[in-house]
Amino acid sequence: MEGYESFKLKIYQFTGIDLSSYKERQMKRRIESLISRNRFDSYEAYFTELKNSKELFDEFINYLTINVSEFRRNPQQWDVLEKEIIPQILSNTKKPKIWSAACSTGEEPYTLVMLMTKFLPLKEVEIIATDIDSGALEKADIGMYNSKATKNLSADTVKNFFIQNGDFYQIKNEVKERVRFKKHNLLEDKYPDQCDLIICRNVMIYFTEETKSKMYHKFHDALKSQGVLFVGSTEQIIMPNQYKLSPLKTFFYQKK
Ligand SMILES: C[S@@+](CC[C@H](N)C(=O)[O-])C[C@H]1O[C@@H](n2cnc3c(N)ncnc32)[C@H](O)[C@@H]1O
Repeated sequence: MEGYESFKLKIYQFTGIDLSSYKERQMKRRIESLISRNRFDSYEAYFTELKNSKELFDEFINYLTINVSEFRRNPQQWDVLEKEIIPQILSNTKKPKIWSAACSTGEEPYTLVMLMTKFLPLKEVEIIATDIDSGALEKADIGMYNSKATKNLSADTVKNFFIQNGDFYQIKNEVKERVRFKKHNLLEDKYPDQCDLIICRNVMIYFTEETKSKMYHKFHDALKSQGVLFVGSTEQIIMPNQYKLSPLKTFFYQKK
């Protein structure tokens, strides 16, 4: 379908989201399927409607952002985080600054709260959690999940941190209070600084190599010395040394 270049520009002006930073083939395929599903025949016609319809706009953002997540996604990696990385971080600071970047609907930052309570009193845990998608952040704030999302959690953890409500699991308020959710675009906005741990998983796969490279530099700058970056299971960094990051464990990198 023609017109992607000018669509990208208009979307950038309208939303601040730069589609050029995302892998083009994948992104075009997704958007074009959305366009035909809504019975438009061109990028231009679709954009004209999207500008005026909140429903179409929300659907576009939702579809674009792919919010799939779950608690303790890839459990073995959370075991490494718990057994090796967190103890090391806590040997340097008693109040670690932790950022869950691209946190989607909240499963990841809430998992972090659960994990940190193995080391600290709940009231001392604080997680910064950000995503570009305000719809996902609203869901995170509601904190209601189905059993699929909690499948990697033990029965005890579910009992301690959720209230069961029919088929749904509501995250307890005291857990919710430990997470500060904020809208944040990883491509445009200023990153937090002096982080002891940054978790950014399952979003880098959507970006071009050039964008990824810029982001690794920014993550480096956002970390404290010795701070750790935790990435997704298909997102190992090629030659991390170029970003002054050293491999610590598979999927974990430390600022030099
Ligand atoms: C597949 S989810 C990953 C959720 C969680 N980190 C995990 O691994 O389960 C990808 C998330 O990245 C977010 N995202 C996409 N582009 C982004 C950007 N430029 N800035 C911040 N978040 C972005 C999406 O909104 C979506 O919630």
